Amino acid sequence: MTPQPHDDLNGARVLVTGGAGFLGTAIRAALTRAGAMPLLLDNLSAYGPTTLTLLGTGPGDLQLTVGDICDEHLVGSLVADADYVVHAAAHSSVHGCTAEPATAVRSNLTGTDTVLRAVAAARRVRRFVLLSTAQVYGHGAPHAARPEQAESFTEDQPLDPLNIYANSKLWAEGHTRQILGTAGCDFTILRPFSVYGPGQVPKPGAASWVVAQFTMYAALGQQLLLNNGGHQVRDFLFRDDAAEAVVRCLTAPAAAGQTLNVGTGIPTAVREVAAHIRARFPDAEVVDAPRVAQDPLGACADTTRMRRVLGWSPRVAVADGIARYVEWVRSTPNSIPDWMRGETSASRINAWRPPAPSPL
Ligand SMILES: NC(=O)c1ccc[n+]([C@@H]2O[C@H](COP(=O)([O-])OP(=O)(O)OC[C@H]3O[C@@H](n4cnc5c(N)ncnc54)[C@H](O)[C@@H]3O)[C@@H](O)[C@H]2O)c1
Repeated sequence: MTPQPHDDLNGARVLVTGGAGFLGTAIRAALTRAGAMPLLLDNLSAYGPTTLTLLGTGPGDLQLTVGDICDEHLVGSLVADADYVVHAAAHSSVHGCTAEPATAVRSNLTGTDTVLRAVAAARRVRRFVLLSTAQVYGHGAPHAARPEQAESFTEDQPLDPLNIYANSKLWAEGHTRQILGTAGCDFTILRPFSVYGPGQVPKPGAASWVVAQFTMYAALGQQLLLNNGGHQVRDFLFRDDAAEAVVRCLTAPAAAGQTLNVGTGIPTAVREVAAHIRARFPDAEVVDAPRVAQDPLGACADTTRMRRVLGWSPRVAVADGIARYVEWVRSTPNSIPDWMRGETSASRINAWRPPAPSPL
């Protein structure tokens, strides 16, 4: 019989840090489908009880250990029991990291160091997968007149992180290569592009996650704000596709030691996303807004290496994925967080100004 991509994962214990998050919960579902046993570690810092329930997790989740990735003892005992480790825990928004640099440093640097050292010390882990980000590339193709002319980012091009979040991820990439390379452990670094889909709930003050923002503000009868005229280009990757890429990466032989983009290879301008949403909320008003500081102009992923190494391509096209997300919000109105209901266009634009960092 021809081996299936997930055969090696059958019965494997896979530790997912950040396992209660937007991507972590999708990775858990994909692992379960593959016959693996997911073990989640999360400090539940990102979301309140309503969102956690929508993500299918929370303090009563039997596969979840509520704890911090900086807790050396806890991380050491969980890693010692794992066949694979997916490191998804992070202070994961650009705005959040800029506003709270101490938390960014603690979770994204110290926490990553703690997990890496535990993996290096454990004899059992077959592969460590780091979720980095496409934000490490910085600006893409600001000059592109039409989205289809935008450049794509290739894994070996120069990196230019524009914010604390991207810097912390770039550091995590280098630290992974150093610690695990020296220890002779297997690892793969993934750079997901803009992941979206059911389960995604925006974080206060963040300008990112535009599919979720536009859909929820349209549902609330508020304006859709096109920062920079919506000319930024993104590569929108459906949540289930992102999770499938992560799970395939665990056992793909050619992924050893690699750095891989994870995207569709298709550029979509933010203003196109607004048009998709408006097709479903015809009364939604779309207005131009100033450019957000530290927000990359963007480009899509060069997916050549991903397709070769994983033998796979994402399945969900952006129009279909947006339709599915809109349907999810319409059928799950409590997905819209309370803080969004009190926003105005002016308060949103104000929140996107560069925040004064809190004292360390
Ligand atoms: N969503 C995207 O578009 C996207 C794109 C590229 C990369 N990524 C990366 O993928 C990973 C998952 O992203 P996500 O969208 O699911 O974000 P998320 O915020 O939903 O999930 C991150 C999880 O990590 C947990 N966490 C944070 N600090 C922690 C700590 N110190 N100890 C334990 N748990 C902690 C949070 O509670 C949260 O559940 C992140 O590393 C993110 O940087 C996400």
